[in-house]
Amino acid sequence: MTTLKMIINGNNKKSKINKEIYGHFSEHLGRCIYEGLYVGENSKIPNTNGMRNDVVEALKEIKIPVLRWPGGCFADEYHWKDGIGPKELRKKMINTHWGGLVEDNSFGTHEFFELCEQIGCEPYIAGNLGSGTVQEMAEWIEYMTFDGVSPMANLRKQNGREKPWKLKYFGIGNENWGCGGSMQPDYYANEYRRYQTYCRNFSGNELFKIACGPNSDDYNWTDKLLSNITPYHTKAISLHYYTVPTGDWNHKGKATEFEIHEYYETIRRTLYIDELITKHCEIMSKHDKNHEIGLIVDEWGTWYDVEDGTNPGFLYQQNTMRDAIVAAINLNIFNQHSDRVIMANIAQAVNVLQAIILTEGKKMIKTPTYHVFNMYKEHQDSTLIDSFVENKTIEYDANSIPCISQSVSIDFQGKMHITVSNCSIDEDFEVESNILGFDFSRVAGKVLTAKMDAHNTFDDPNAIEPQAFTDFRILKDGLKIKLPKCSVVSITLE
Ligand code: AHR
Repeated sequence: MTTLKMIINGNNKKSKINKEIYGHFSEHLGRCIYEGLYVGENSKIPNTNGMRNDVVEALKEIKIPVLRWPGGCFADEYHWKDGIGPKELRKKMINTHWGGLVEDNSFGTHEFFELCEQIGCEPYIAGNLGSGTVQEMAEWIEYMTFDGVSPMANLRKQNGREKPWKLKYFGIGNENWGCGGSMQPDYYANEYRRYQTYCRNFSGNELFKIACGPNSDDYNWTDKLLSNITPYHTKAISLHYYTVPTGDWNHKGKATEFEIHEYYETIRRTLYIDELITKHCEIMSKHDKNHEIGLIVDEWGTWYDVEDGTNPGFLYQQNTMRDAIVAAINLNIFNQHSDRVIMANIAQAVNVLQAIILTEGKKMIKTPTYHVFNMYKEHQDSTLIDSFVENKTIEYDANSIPCISQSVSIDFQGKMHITVSNCSIDEDFEVESNILGFDFSRVAGKVLTAKMDAHNTFDDPNAIEPQAFTDFRILKDGLKIKLPKCSVVSITLE
């Protein structure tokens, strides 16, 4: 078995890993909100004020820090006043983006805050710049956050909520280079400046305003945007990047049936986000030398062809060990870039794209991606530690990709957390870590490993789940572990 050397320098403490890097995204799309998160008070599925108890419990277990809503593309067609007041009077509309189904608006602002309260996470709302007015956006903020006498605060009270909510994260538009209005960067930047002017900080509530950043490698968007807006206008810009295994949006490939070269191609395209973040950060640093503007990867994950027999507009896909490796790599990369990447939201929480949870009627399964979030949760709000691995590469189709991905942090209690993945499907490795500046005597860990296409189903919900990790040996100055092929391992040292 090949031995790979890893160096962990506990003396070199780097940036804080914001817990929001472990964030999630929920859109009015397919069965994410309806059926997935919200079933309504009268449902036979156990719920609290309409929110599925099993799903809320699962989300609490992985400590989700932040939830983005209502879209996605849906956000720039969403008119918030349609989703407040007595449910029987709420407007019904067509969800033109996603499947053309009737949206009855029974899940709106009050329900979203209720969901976040039950989960214990920060709400992140995306406002409508694409098709909404400045007044509509300004009034939404007033409705949610103003504590006093005003038309919108009064309306909120009439609808049963006396006190305002706390709202920190507010996005001003979504993908305004595409579904959010097909704008040019200069035009969007000016629109952003105008809309954000009227997003007021009411009653001690301080908004953390987020501007729509680039699509994948659109470096020109980042450059033009930041030529026009400054830390005075925004606290962060977003980046969206999806892993499409074939690179062809018309034939993306299946979630559970794929060849080895497609598996490695998925990994290669996932690793590309490292280059994207690095290059966008270079542009950001040119404009924002003091690092006052953060980068939020507020949509990421795998995007496959939908499952056979499902509505193409619902974006429902299964989730395998391949997705677990994709999640592990992405999260390690975000941790490594936590000096600029202050939040990330996987798309999406339930039943859509790289979902962490799938539901069918009253049944619920946790996907391999869910388990990775559970194994990585100790990184939340810890401090990134310098680490380096002497990697081995896999050569395929004239491409070359590294087998190992890793990140290391130390939490506020002084425990060290190491997360590492091995994407090779046929080679186990021995990883020998030299750990500097950190003493430990106890090791505990988890391992998630299976065939690349293994997945959980409603008939076999625990086919793949983490096991205790025992394949390690404490050395005089470090730790030796056996890292199985196609695996994700998390280790805590204390
Ligand atoms: O997550 C699905 C869609 O992908 C979102 O609505 C949109 O923002 C992106 O293009």
